[in-house]
Amino acid sequence: MTHIDTARGRFPRTRPRRMRRDEFSRRLMRERHLRADDLIQPVFVLEGKNRSEPVASMPGIERVTIDRLLAQAEALQTLGVPAVALFPVTPTGKKSLGAEEAYNPEGLAQRAARELKRRFPALGVVTDVALDPFTSHGQDGLIDESGYVVNDETVAVLVRQALSHAEAGADIVAPSDMMDGRIGAIRDALESAGHRNTRILAYSAKYASSFYGPFRDAVGSAGNLGGGNKYSYQMDPANSDEALREVALDLDEGADMVMVKPGMPYLDIVRRVKETFGVPTFVYQVSGEYAMLKAASANGWLEERAVVLESLLAMKRAGADAILTYFARQVAEWLKGGES
Ligand code: PBG
Repeated sequence: MTHIDTARGRFPRTRPRRMRRDEFSRRLMRERHLRADDLIQPVFVLEGKNRSEPVASMPGIERVTIDRLLAQAEALQTLGVPAVALFPVTPTGKKSLGAEEAYNPEGLAQRAARELKRRFPALGVVTDVALDPFTSHGQDGLIDESGYVVNDETVAVLVRQALSHAEAGADIVAPSDMMDGRIGAIRDALESAGHRNTRILAYSAKYASSFYGPFRDAVGSAGNLGGGNKYSYQMDPANSDEALREVALDLDEGADMVMVKPGMPYLDIVRRVKETFGVPTFVYQVSGEYAMLKAASANGWLEERAVVLESLLAMKRAGADAILTYFARQVAEWLKGGES
């Protein structure tokens, strides 16, 4: 850019501020947009009827029974949100070492998927494939005597879980467990069982993050996990090349979409994944990110609507095609048919 040379009476020829002066030209050169089409609403599902419970660390988010979930689904569909992601809250009595409840055809996630597809066939249903809501120890897989999460035995259970979701009508199964080889095993099982069009959203680059705290409260796995951690299977926050390796493996094994999680602190990973592979790349704005934005807004320290829209637009700019966010419904209401 030409610099101002006052001595010779010259001025900048290029003034980027010209285009920023008015809303019409800001709109014309806007590179990214956020629409309801980009969003997936995660929901916490409870046993029982006509009941909801607030999640203390996630103001505005409730666990709801299936009948209430159906009412929410209708609202989401009307607002143009394409899909919901189901997270069941498993009663303590149904948790076990073998996580058998994970593949119960009458389990909460399976019933919720079935009811949703029956009432709203056009609304996409995503189910979480991982064992943490069902294990008595809160880990995502089965453990040996030392407490180590065993890979291949866990994959066998994940396959049963994913099949039970597909049978219940789930459109997308989303393995969030980070076991090795699970995408390939699930893909083969789905194909053999005739579920050719069940899509797999692989949580490929899922980090061992401290931003998942409120989620573990919401599904009630925090108490089970106790002081345990997930470092032996979720990724080290220091790593980036490793994320590309995980994505390459999952794509090779038959993933239709890949996901980076959490969102805002990991947008460099989103960018690298999208640029390297050019495949549908999703990002999860996780519970801790939601809690931070809510808490600061509630204190009047941040302006909620502005920061939420900015945080999501930044994800699109980084390369995300779609975003799982607890703000989905709220954002769709703010945008109402338009975009930001
Ligand atoms: C379970 C799962 C987790 C989340 C989604 N699926 C928690 C975890 O891995 O401990 C976190 C989502 C969030 O924090 O919003 N495997």
